Amino acid sequence: MKAKKALSLLMTAALATAMLTGCGGGRGTEETTQQTAADTSAAAEKKDTEDAKPEETAEAPSAGSGIVGVALPWLGTQNWAEAEVMFKEQLEAAGYEPIIQAADQKVPQQQQQIESMIENGAEVIVVGPVDGSQLGSVLEKAKDAGVYVIGYDRLLENTTGVDGVVQFGSVKTGELQAQALLQGLEELKGEAPYNIELFGGGPADPNAPNFFTGAMSVLQPLIDDGTLVVVSGQTDFTQCATADWDNSKAQSRMDAILAGNYSDIEIDGVLSPNDGIARAIITSCENAGQPIPVVSGLDAENESVEWVWSGRQYSTVAKPTNALVAETVSIIDSLLSGNGMPATDVKANNGVIDVPIYELPPVVVTKDNAKEVFADDPDRMALLKD
Ligand code: BGC
Repeated sequence: MKAKKALSLLMTAALATAMLTGCGGGRGTEETTQQTAADTSAAAEKKDTEDAKPEETAEAPSAGSGIVGVALPWLGTQNWAEAEVMFKEQLEAAGYEPIIQAADQKVPQQQQQIESMIENGAEVIVVGPVDGSQLGSVLEKAKDAGVYVIGYDRLLENTTGVDGVVQFGSVKTGELQAQALLQGLEELKGEAPYNIELFGGGPADPNAPNFFTGAMSVLQPLIDDGTLVVVSGQTDFTQCATADWDNSKAQSRMDAILAGNYSDIEIDGVLSPNDGIARAIITSCENAGQPIPVVSGLDAENESVEWVWSGRQYSTVAKPTNALVAETVSIIDSLLSGNGMPATDVKANNGVIDVPIYELPPVVVTKDNAKEVFADDPDRMALLKD
């Protein structure tokens, strides 16, 4: 296919560097780093012969030109809606022609969108999967067509068709959420023990179990020693997960938990995996006549930034979309310049291969540090009204 063939001249040039540095990445270097030096030079020679045709050389992709597909899972939380806008702006500014589509949480729709990006000649496809494990065959197809695939915000599982994933540390995010919950309980709810409940995100999203694992690494010892009491007894991810990250499902679960367990006691805190679910939980508690519990969040959505500022939601975690998109665009530049994937020490096994991960740090936000965290974000700063 076009991109792969055209790349091979560039890859031949980049080969020696990739072999020396071992920083791998990109279809060409990934294949060649697994070969012996002798195999590699034979392969390089063969590619030279195959690709010496002038019209193919003319098609060589380069940084700042060509089609880039972006397949988003849905636009139901602010981070994905921002990603749609920011990918368009940043890819166009860098000289690319973006095709951006969102899949409304539907796996077949996302598979079709990726297929059509391949057919339309995308050099790179950026994928935030609806379901991390359901894109195996379409991504293998992209790989066979010589298209680079970058996972965005979520891991791409059970496929060799992924070159790397750009995301905020997902286990770290869960740790921050749990630490903020504890801090809020100590600050606002007096002496332990504290009555709490646990919520997780959509089980098809590989981030959701990671957020939960990170949070439980902080909370479990305190559940074990009685500092925290999960009154409903629901502590497994499967019990706590929220299908499709659907806020209304989280609100119904919270309604049922309160009705069944809290008729004569107060709830002190709730672990929430993101801001939409946090607001649903808080609303449910308000409707049940409970004092507002300490609730964690994620995304620094505008509405939750206002709620944190007014004291209605205790914390959120900022994972700035513009930074994640910028990181993705710089990786695209690197790939299409023939420099392969940038080096990284972080890898995650996706069930089939170890995937290079490019991690940005998430930052916890409470009322105390909101002005510091959003100092360079005029839109969110404008929400912090005195
Ligand atoms: C993202 C969160 C988002 C959630 C639901 C996760 O994969 O990391 O930022 O809130 O999906 O859309």
